[in-house]
Amino acid sequence: MSRLVIKGGKHLEGEVYIHGAKNSSLPVLAATILCGDICEIHNCPYLTDVDASLKILNYLGCTALRENDKIHVDSKILIHSDIPDKLMHEMRSSIIFLGAVLARTGRARLSFPGGCDLGSRPIDIHLKALRQMGASIEVEKGIIDCRTEGRLKGAHLQLTFPSVGATENIMIAAATARGETIISNAAREPEICDLAAFLNACGAKISGHGGGVITIEGVETLHGCSHTIIPDRIIAATYLAAAAVTGGKIKLNGIVTDHLTPILAAFEESGCLIEEEAEGSITITAPKVLKPMKDIRTMPYPGFPTDAQAILMSVAAVAEGTSVFVENIFDNRYKHVGELRRLGANINLEGKVAVVEGIKRFSGADVQSTDLRGAAALVIAGLNASGETRITRLRHLDRGYDGLVESLNLLGADITRM
Ligand code: UD1
Repeated sequence: MSRLVIKGGKHLEGEVYIHGAKNSSLPVLAATILCGDICEIHNCPYLTDVDASLKILNYLGCTALRENDKIHVDSKILIHSDIPDKLMHEMRSSIIFLGAVLARTGRARLSFPGGCDLGSRPIDIHLKALRQMGASIEVEKGIIDCRTEGRLKGAHLQLTFPSVGATENIMIAAATARGETIISNAAREPEICDLAAFLNACGAKISGHGGGVITIEGVETLHGCSHTIIPDRIIAATYLAAAAVTGGKIKLNGIVTDHLTPILAAFEESGCLIEEEAEGSITITAPKVLKPMKDIRTMPYPGFPTDAQAILMSVAAVAEGTSVFVENIFDNRYKHVGELRRLGANINLEGKVAVVEGIKRFSGADVQSTDLRGAAALVIAGLNASGETRITRLRHLDRGYDGLVESLNLLGADITRM
């Protein structure tokens, strides 16, 4: 079993490049299916979730190949419209293939994603929208079987929650549907805008993305394009946290500062100095003593992202005073708390609320990753801790972090992967 061994207490200093966003790469790769042509996707990180997407594309009949950070997808020929269970289970987000496969082939048969590390992950919003667009859908024994006669048809869709995945699935399905689709209460995340930019570069007619109402004028066919994935704002948050807990100073390059607004506000509240010297880079300088973050409430974008909650909790845990977190997006996203407590954190949970009483410093111990961002929170805690922190179940970390250990070591950390 592989594990990370972190000798904590090193001061981190230097520069780091922020790689492309996992949560943009996955829907964009799924959407390449619609083109029936060749797409080149740049700035794709090396992640197990991206590998799982490539396996699905290759199974479906596409040729999907990686060359450094570029992924080349030829989707001229599709031979399957089902996705085997094994491939579906390699990555929860595989549900993002539903709209693309259905729109391209008129049929999509895949297994229900089911629950995951963050609690139940229903897909009712995805299915309701596709039904409104004319798909007939049967769900039996964990299999979702979708069909459509001819092209899907545009519809006015009012989402009950601005689900990121559902908004993406609908945008993809609607791009080549007959007529206009309007998504009200759509997700506004930067990754939604990236997907819209990709689809528009392929000839789609999407407008309003980034706002709560997205309009998609369906076109008959799409063509290939070359597209560069946006930087990963959660990776950026992770390096900011690494600087904060080590009294460090780190320059982040290759970012979009606007995507980080709520995250930067939290770091500034904790007493960190954030300086933007040039477009696409910021420098964080940690204070001697971190201040608490009074009220971190996770919300859909542009609110504070749920994916950064665990990471910021490791920062709050070593601040002088009491911080309060409210998790509003997922019903089971505090699994990392038990592990942070093993490292000495003083955190009390009550339902959606976590009250974090700052301690002076974490103390190294053996801990287990519980989920992707929970794993990152443990790495942050380990960087701060006295003594050695050993983290197992690294498969979670590998889903979302490309070269984390190498980059942190270049900044001065002492981490070994055994
Ligand atoms: C995406 C991100 C994930 C992030 C999340 C919220 C990807 C690959 N993953 O996940 O990292 O944490 O957005 O920003 O982009 N819901 C329903 N019914 C549905 C769909 C969602 O009830 O049909 C609920 C979910 O259970 C959850 C909430 O809506 O409580 C948010 O989910 P959603 O925005 O869909 O997240 P994902 O797209 O799965």
